[in-house]
Amino acid sequence: MDTYLVGYFFLATSALIDPYGRKIDYLRISVTDRCDFRCTYCMDEDVSFLSREEILSLEEIVHVAKTFISMGTKRIRITGGEPLVRKNILWAIEQIANTDGLEELTITTNGSQLYKMAQDLLNAGVSRINISLDTLKADRFYALTRRDKFQQVINGIEAASQLPFKRLKINSVMLKNHNDDELYDLAQFALDRKMDISFIEEMPLGIITDHNRAATYLSSDDVIETLSQHYDLTPSSMTTSGPTSYYQVAGHDHKIGVISPHSHNFCDTCNRVRLTVEGRLLLCLGNDHSKDLKDIIRNTSHDATTLESAIIDALALKPLQHHFNLDEAPQILRFMSATGG
Ligand code: 5AD
Ligand code: SF4
Repeated sequence: MDTYLVGYFFLATSALIDPYGRKIDYLRISVTDRCDFRCTYCMDEDVSFLSREEILSLEEIVHVAKTFISMGTKRIRITGGEPLVRKNILWAIEQIANTDGLEELTITTNGSQLYKMAQDLLNAGVSRINISLDTLKADRFYALTRRDKFQQVINGIEAASQLPFKRLKINSVMLKNHNDDELYDLAQFALDRKMDISFIEEMPLGIITDHNRAATYLSSDDVIETLSQHYDLTPSSMTTSGPTSYYQVAGHDHKIGVISPHSHNFCDTCNRVRLTVEGRLLLCLGNDHSKDLKDIIRNTSHDATTLESAIIDALALKPLQHHFNLDEAPQILRFMSATGG
């Protein structure tokens, strides 16, 4: 087997290993920074988006994805912005999902297009969908997303839940005094529909003007404490190659999870890298270490070997961990929408 010398580390081509010995077999791809919502914790109303030339074409995205799969990537998640608003995205999803070696193609969506696309996504090869939903109240949904699409999202969730996806999960970002009174209702909504649910601590990505993130911070420990008043929760050993810690819920087949970038640092088991919509390979959500792959793809006319070497070089930049601090101005000025959650 070929080996490359990277820094002080030898890497086998069949597996990407970072300088801290973590095996990187999970790639998240942001296919657009655009979104039909304007969630207050994610972006301001008048945010500006990238131009067409600045972002990777779908062909370029598929090329990078296939290169990663040839280097041992087993799971790919398609994210945004809102991935399903990108034109012809089903074509790219199908190309990637049907590449030999990939075990799982998943997407993260705000759910707005699912009422009409759920079946197409299943047909294209998507096995799991994470759907963002932070409230079950239509007026609050409008306040949080600045868009009046609550019923459309609910219809989409119902449509997806009728189909044989391997797994559906709700993601709820919890903000103190905004939606934390709905913890139980959201959990029960998911469990009733045979879905898992993860409650997410807000991360300081990008500057927003709607609220002070330190003031709305709700720790995962508080989430679990509140839910324990309603359910018998036992920590579960399940991992789904993400940063969620799961709890078994007595009497239910589905799980409640928490994603705690602040209160419980999950970096030691990090197995992923991200491809931003601009073609930067991002080594960590909470750090700016990255490598521009767009120039490499555009200047080497899809030469796979050059791209492979660039990916291997980039991995040497992967930091050990992130350092989020809510009491300081955001250190990371990227928005989640350009990064892919
Ligand atoms: N902090 C935490 N979660 C966020 N999301 C978007 N922005 C943030 C943030 N600043 C969530 C979305 C979605 C997932 C991809 O990331 O709500 O569930
Ligand atoms: Fe769009 Fe997701 Fe950001 Fe909301 S959190 S504005 S749905 S990208």
